[in-house]
Order: sequence, then structure tokens, then C-alpha cells
Amino acid sequence: MADYKVKDINLAPQGALLVEWATEHMPVLAQIRSRFEKEKPLKGITIGACLHVTKETAVLALTLKAGGATVALCGSNPLSTQDEVAAYLATKGINVYAWREQPTEDYFWCINQVLDYKPQITMDDGADVVGVIHKERTDLIPNVIGGTEETTTGVIRLRAMEQDKALKYPIIAVNDAYTKYLFDNRYGTGQSTLDGILRATSVLIAGKYFVVAGYGWCGRGLAMRAKGQGAKVIVTEVDATKALEAVMDGFLVMPMEEAAELGDIFVTLTGDTSVIRKEHMEKMKDGAIVANSGHFNVEIDIQDLEKMATSKRTLRPNLEEYTLPDGKRIHLLAEGRLVNLAAAEGHPSEVMDMSFANQAMNAEYLVKNKGLDIKVYRVPQEIDELVAGLKLKALGVSIDELTDKQKKYLATWDEGTI
Ligand SMILES: NC(=O)c1ccc[n+]([C@@H]2O[C@H](COP(=O)([O-])OP(=O)(O)OC[C@H]3O[C@@H](n4cnc5c(N)ncnc54)[C@H](O)[C@@H]3O)[C@@H](O)[C@H]2O)c1
Repeated sequence: MADYKVKDINLAPQGALLVEWATEHMPVLAQIRSRFEKEKPLKGITIGACLHVTKETAVLALTLKAGGATVALCGSNPLSTQDEVAAYLATKGINVYAWREQPTEDYFWCINQVLDYKPQITMDDGADVVGVIHKERTDLIPNVIGGTEETTTGVIRLRAMEQDKALKYPIIAVNDAYTKYLFDNRYGTGQSTLDGILRATSVLIAGKYFVVAGYGWCGRGLAMRAKGQGAKVIVTEVDATKALEAVMDGFLVMPMEEAAELGDIFVTLTGDTSVIRKEHMEKMKDGAIVANSGHFNVEIDIQDLEKMATSKRTLRPNLEEYTLPDGKRIHLLAEGRLVNLAAAEGHPSEVMDMSFANQAMNAEYLVKNKGLDIKVYRVPQEIDELVAGLKLKALGVSIDELTDKQKKYLATWDEGTI
């Protein structure tokens, strides 16, 4: 039994079933785990992980442990921990400090508990661990080999640290692997964000004006899936190329100020701040539903909504109704935190299989390549390709191989028109 602080350790048997279900749907990680069991590439290594404590993260934590690591884990969002899973992990030797619905103070207490293990590898989802180490626990830095980062927002923060020369150990940007963002951010967020909205509201998507703020990988996925459900999708952007892409993908594109008047459901996925503001909420229709699926709860100006409202009530779990002075109601989902994790279960196991295969293999890479320069690195191409290959194999899909003639042709420059 590990050291832990979870909501209720008696929830462990339910957690076991959830983790069993996820394991069955994560064949790539399963292969890595059986190799890790034999080779123990993480023997003697302590990993401090701050990830959403979901059934998929449990499969990753157990894989790292199978590789010989000591794992200390906390949640990367105050509302995303699955308490059953946290309890189960505690019974399986993972030192876990996580429970759902934490005040910010407890959230950082959990991070500090993890840091007390003096990790040699940090695994972040949003760069909060790196932030605490660099600001408050600098004594730990000499002990760290490197870290990994799971999400776009974290990578942006870490690149800013690198630019400012504030970063003190190397990081691998797992988010930037093709086998991560093309699948996790796009298909994972696309499906699970809709899942969160439906679990919180159970409204019909078909025929509604569905506003997607941000046409990055997450926004593309959500727009695609909302369209598939029959919504009239509106995209808002600040980047001309992405906006043009949304136009050509068949979506309406306009500023938030105009979208605010039309939309029935609004979702922010920008990694930016104050994307939906007071002036937008003032224009919204009665009954509008507003949610965020970007990393931090800063994309919707919730303080403004609180100030504008004359009353507020909770209608269902993760669904708060704010009434404005003119009687208009705005419905905020999951307190503006990641709706797919707070109101549903996060991404399906099948996509997390690839994201977390990258996490496990990059942890191994950091151990094998101690002493990397202090930079933010892309995932090594061979790891990305290996994950893609293993996933295809698990799906029973085979592809063509280049012939020798093709290899030669693709490597020469002197063959053109014939
Ligand atoms: N919900 C999840 O489970 C999940 C999964 C992966 C990533 N994320 C998070 O989602 C966010 C987006 O990630 P991504 O990979 O799509 O990033 P991305 O960089 O590919 O896309 C973000 C897009 O938002 C646009 N944008 C920025 N400010 C805007 C504004 N004010 N209005 C409209 N558009 C704006 C950018 O131009 C860009 O096209 C990040 O915070 C990321 O960490 C969440």
C-alpha cells in the first residue's frame, strides 16, 4: 500500500473495474508495459506526475511502476479526478494525492506532496509542477533529469520559460507528437467535449447554433463532431489561416461579438484568456449554454458573469444557471473548467493509449539520455513512428512498404518529366 490522500479508499473496487475497462482499450500501452516488466528501464527512478487522475492515467501510472519507477501522482485540475480510480491506485502502490472538487489551496498541497518524493522525472499536464519547482522548490532542480508535458497550454508556458532562459531542466513536449495532437486533441477532445455537454445538459445538438472558439486541433475536432450531430457550427478565430481553413471546411466564421447573438451553445478551446467576456454575454440569447474545453478556466470571464447575475442556482451536476437583471438566463457548465473531464470522463481510452504510450516511452528516453541540453524538445521521431505503427497493428490495419525502386526515386533529384 502506498502513501495517499484520496476521497474514499473504499471506492477502490469500483476503480478496479474502470481501470480494467481502460486497460482493455489501450493495447499499445499494454505492449509497452509487458516490455517494461521484463526490462525495468525505470528502475530506481522516481516520477512525479501531475495528470488528470482518470482510468487511462491509472493505466499509465501502473505501466511506469511496472518499469521499475516509484510513482507519485496528483491531479492536474481540481475537478477532473475520478475518485474511484484514485482509491484503486493507492491500493496498487501508486502514491496518489487527488480528489475531485479541490479548492486551489488543496490542489497545490497535492502538488507539493508529490514533490516531496524528489522526482527525477516530472510529468505535467499544464506545467503546474514545473511552475512550482521553478518558483518555490528550486532545491529539487539538480535532482531532475527532465520532464514531459502533455498539453498545448503547458508547452506554450514551457516555451515561454525557455525563451526567458528561466527553464532549468529539459522537457519533452509530448503534446507535439503527431501521435498525440492529431488524435488526442482532435478526435479525443471532439468526442469527449460533446460527451461532457450532453451529460451536463442532455440537450439536442441537432439544429442548434454551436459556437466553437478556436480552430486549432481541439476546435477542429469539436467543430467536426458537432457538425456530425447536425449543429450549425460557427467558428471564431484570431488567426487568419485557421479562420480560412474553417471557412473552407464549411463553417460560418465571424467575430465572437456577432456569434454571441446567434449561438445556442458556446465552447472555448483556445488556450487563451477572456475569450467570452461581459460584452459577449450581454448579447447572448436567453438560455445560452457556455462551456470551456481549453486547459485553464480563464477562457470565460466567470467573475463578470457572477457580477452581472442577480441570482444563480445549480440545476443539475455541472450545470449552473445565472439570471441577469433583464431575466435572461445563461447556463455555465462545470464552472468553466475542462467540460470533457469535469462533466464526463475525458478522452476515450483508445486515444489516450497513444498519448500515454508517448509519455511512457519518453520517460524511458529521458533516463537513457541523461544530460540533455536545457530545451523544450519535440518527441523523437522514432518514438512517434513506433507508437503509430503499434497502434495500426493493434487495429489490425496493415499498410504498403516502399519498394527499393520507390526509395531510390524518392531520394533522387535528377528524375523529373519523362
Ligand atoms: N479538453 C481537453 O481534454 C484538452 C485536450 C488537449 C488540449 N486541450 C487544451 O485546449 C486548448 C487548445 O489546444 P489546441 O491543441 O487546440 O491548441 P491550438 O494552438 O492548436 O489551437 C488554439 C487555437 O485558438 C485560437 N485562438 C487563440 N486565441 C483566440 C481567441 N481569443 N479567439 C478565438 N480563437 C483564438 C488560436 O489562433 C489557435 O488556432 C489548450 O488550452 C490545450 O491545452 C484540452
